[in-house]
Amino acid sequence: MSEQIRAVVFGGPALDTSSTRVTAVALPEPGKGELSIDVQFAGINFKDVMVRRGDGPYVTSWPYVPGIEVAGAVRALGPGVDGFRLGQPVVAYMNDGGLAEVAVASAALTVPVPDGLDLAAAAAAPGALTTAVLLLEHGRLRAGDSVLVHSAAGAVGQAVVRLARLAGAGPVLAAVGSPSRASAAEAAGYDRAFVREPQLAQAVREHLGGSGVDLILDPQGTTQLDADLDMAAAAGRVVLFGNATGEPFGQLPPAGRLYAGTVSVGGFSLAALSARAPWLLAAGLSRTVAQLAAGELDPRITIVDGLDAAPAAQQALAESRASGKQVVRL
Ligand SMILES: NC(=O)c1ccc[n+]([C@@H]2O[C@H](COP(=O)([O-])OP(=O)(O)OC[C@H]3O[C@@H](n4cnc5c(N)ncnc54)[C@H](OP(=O)(O)O)[C@@H]3O)[C@@H](O)[C@H]2O)c1
Repeated sequence: MSEQIRAVVFGGPALDTSSTRVTAVALPEPGKGELSIDVQFAGINFKDVMVRRGDGPYVTSWPYVPGIEVAGAVRALGPGVDGFRLGQPVVAYMNDGGLAEVAVASAALTVPVPDGLDLAAAAAAPGALTTAVLLLEHGRLRAGDSVLVHSAAGAVGQAVVRLARLAGAGPVLAAVGSPSRASAAEAAGYDRAFVREPQLAQAVREHLGGSGVDLILDPQGTTQLDADLDMAAAAGRVVLFGNATGEPFGQLPPAGRLYAGTVSVGGFSLAALSARAPWLLAAGLSRTVAQLAAGELDPRITIVDGLDAAPAAQQALAESRASGKQVVRL
C-alpha cells in the first residue's frame, strides 16, 4: 500500500462541517518544478469556506483537500528543482492541498523563511498577508490617501490597516457585517467602522466631510459596487478582490459612470496571478516575508491545535465568528 498522510478532506458541497473529514490520503509526490513540504503550520482562509460551499469555479471534482498557505520544512524536490535544500524552512502558496501533513507546491511559489521568523506567523504570509501587500500596491496607495476596506475585521483586513498606516495613509475606514465586527475592526486599528447597510456611502461621505474615499478594497463580489462608486473620490480606485457573498457577479457599471466620476474599478486574484504571472505573486510573497521579519507586519494569530480542529475553525469563519488570522499547528 502507498504511504499515507492525514489531511482535511471535503467530500462534497456543504454549508457546515457535515461533509468534512480529517482522514488518510495518499502521500502527494512533487512533480516537475514542484517540491513537497512537511507542513508545520497551515492557514485557514475564507477560500476554504467558499470551496466547501461549492462556489464556482474552485472545485472540479470531489473529494477535495483545501488549504492555500503553509509553512514547514522542505521534504522532497521534484525534477528540475534546485535552490532549496531538504529540511529548509519555507512558506508556499498553493491553490489547494495545504491543510495536510504534507503539501506539494510549485517551487516558483515557495520562499525561504529567514532564521528567527515565527513559523506560525509565516504561515499567514502566502495567502492573507501577501494579498494585503499586493492589494495596496495594486490600488496605488499614496501617502495621505483615505482607504475603506470591506470585511475589515478579518485576516486580510487587519493586515491592510497596519500596512496602510505604514504607508502614511489618511483616514482608514472599515465596512463590516455586524456591530461586533465593527468593534473588532476598530480594535485592529481602523479609525472608524461602519456596518454594511443601504446608507453606507452617505455615512462615509459625511464622516469624511463630503470628500470621497481614494482607495476602496472590496471582497463582497459586486453587491457593494454601487455604494463603492457613490463614495469614491475623484481619481479614486476600487479593487474587487473576492466574492464572500457567493452571489453571481453582477455587471460592471456603465462606462459613463466611471468617466463622469473619474473612478477606476479593477480586480485582484492570487489564484489568477499564480496561473498567469506567478513571478508577481512570488515577488509579493518575498516582500511580505521580509516585512514580517522586519516586524512591519505583526498578524494577530489564533493557533488552531491540530488538523482535527480545522473543520470547526473553518465553520467559525463561515459564521463570521472569527477575527484576525487562524493558523493550524500540525
Ligand atoms: N483575491 C484574492 O486573491 C484573495 C486572497 C485572500 C482573500 N481574499 C478574500 O478576502 C476576504 C477576506 O479573506 P480572509 O481569509 O481574511 O477572511 P475573513 O475576512 O477573516 O473572513 C471573511 C469575512 O467575510 C464576511 N462574510 C462571511 N460570510 C459572508 C457572506 N455570506 N456574505 C457576505 N460577507 C460574508 C465576514 O465579514 P463581514 O461580515 O464583516 O464583512 C467574514 O469575516 C474573503 O472574501 C476572501 O475570499 C481574496
